[in-house]
Amino acid sequence: MKRSEQTAIVVGSGISGLYTALRLSKNNKFKNILLITKTNILECNSRYAQGGIVGVMKENEADSVTLHIKDTLKAGAGLSDKEAVKIISENSEKVINNLLEYGVEFDRDEENKFKFTMEGAHSVRRILHSGGDATGLCIEKVLSEKVLTEPNIQVKEETTIVEILTDSKETCRGVIVYNNITKEYEAIYSNVVILATGGIGQLYKYTTNPSVTTGDGIAAAYRAGAVVQDMEFVQFHPTAYNAKTEKNMFLISEAVRGEGAKLVDENGNTFMEKYDERLELASRDIVTRAIYNEMRIRGTKNVYLNAAVIQKDTFLNRFPTINEMCKKNGMDPLKENIPVSPAAHYMMGGVKTTEAGVTSITNLYAVGETACTGLHGANRLASNSLLECVVTAYEITEFLKEKQIERTEFLKEEKDSKIKAVLMKYNEDCKKNSVNLVTLKQKLQNLMWEKAGIIRNEKDLKTGLKELEEIQEAFGYTDKCPSKEAYELRNLIICGKLIIEFALNRKESRGGHYREDYTGKIEPARHYATTINKGKYEEIYVK
Ligand code: SIN
Repeated sequence: MKRSEQTAIVVGSGISGLYTALRLSKNNKFKNILLITKTNILECNSRYAQGGIVGVMKENEADSVTLHIKDTLKAGAGLSDKEAVKIISENSEKVINNLLEYGVEFDRDEENKFKFTMEGAHSVRRILHSGGDATGLCIEKVLSEKVLTEPNIQVKEETTIVEILTDSKETCRGVIVYNNITKEYEAIYSNVVILATGGIGQLYKYTTNPSVTTGDGIAAAYRAGAVVQDMEFVQFHPTAYNAKTEKNMFLISEAVRGEGAKLVDENGNTFMEKYDERLELASRDIVTRAIYNEMRIRGTKNVYLNAAVIQKDTFLNRFPTINEMCKKNGMDPLKENIPVSPAAHYMMGGVKTTEAGVTSITNLYAVGETACTGLHGANRLASNSLLECVVTAYEITEFLKEKQIERTEFLKEEKDSKIKAVLMKYNEDCKKNSVNLVTLKQKLQNLMWEKAGIIRNEKDLKTGLKELEEIQEAFGYTDKCPSKEAYELRNLIICGKLIIEFALNRKESRGGHYREDYTGKIEPARHYATTINKGKYEEIYVK
């Protein structure tokens, strides 16, 4: 196995990873920063973010940090970490300004003032957007171009993280990576490892997330003994384009409802008035369950979004990507209702971190959807995720300024018995198994959608867990796997199991976690798990 040493390793090339790497180079003056990414630098979940990024800006007189905190806490359904919410909200203007300095642009009006849009459960217009409805892609392009020309940052594409190396003192010393093309392994040592690998959307039959979202960072951190939390809280976006043929569903941004679009049934009748007085702009969990319920009652595969009520020029200016995608699917969103249904969209839980990305393992950091700072609680407020990505990334780099970063030496690290043992597993030949990975992955996605999806109950969750364990047994690989696809499935199985176990453990309905057998709420508690205390679940009551 090849070996190398770096000052810092960033895993993932979404907005979190790119922004962290750039700041480490520009502000922390780190040399030898390695950024690894599973396919190419632009392929990540962030690039599909349409709606935007929360900007609590002074120029927006209607808004304030206090109001944003209030909205975030309300959406979080009693489980948000108040300190995380405060820090992330207070730092919004600072990080937006920093993004502007890096060359990111947000849409502005004729007077050069930001155009703020509206999304569900926000009490004012406060969401900044770029390219109309291509916010993630616009930010991603600017940051990736900067990263690629930064002399201190080396980018390795087609590289999959397969293990986090921790020593006998449970301190992170680096990672083992797998080259998808050459199939070679490399142990890369560093005293700063930052996970920014995104979420777990591919666990579900229907998702708005791209195929790279296989929970790689969460699974690697959990395998290494890091504490994970809130894994039962999966956010299902209410309105994904239901093309019936595509598995990864195209998002119809909540901002379309923010601009006035109405949810309707097949006869063109609205139905949100039955569910919440905020109608189409109720929080996401409520709108998702309302749509799901309407689909169940009517036995239909989707409901519709009437966007033709939006003024034509406004729609075309604000939603060029959505317009184009609808047209590609043979329909005109200004003349016909758009077929929409819910799809897995965002993992609110993940690796437990502070607002500065600090995990329970020394030298290991996590940021973005991989991490769980507690900001989102049981239900994420729209467009808070990109904000969290940049604030946490910013705070990681500030935290690292205070620390003495020592360079590692692989010869020294490899004397450690725990590291030696892990390296041995990846130096051995991989046992062969004739299992069909595609079929197994589909089985997993179906079971997660049906048994651990939008509406849950104990019977389904228990059956789901049993079926998942059968899939795990048929899969057969625990450590070294024969391909990138097998590593992805290994990671999805780990994350799926965590979601089901956490969901079984939470005997109440709260935010994105809805139990039809426990529809009420009990005292708000946060759930944790780690392999270090033998996978035992803990509950900590949230004040
Ligand atoms: C959307 O545009 O509806 C998605 C934004 C988000 O997930 O925060």
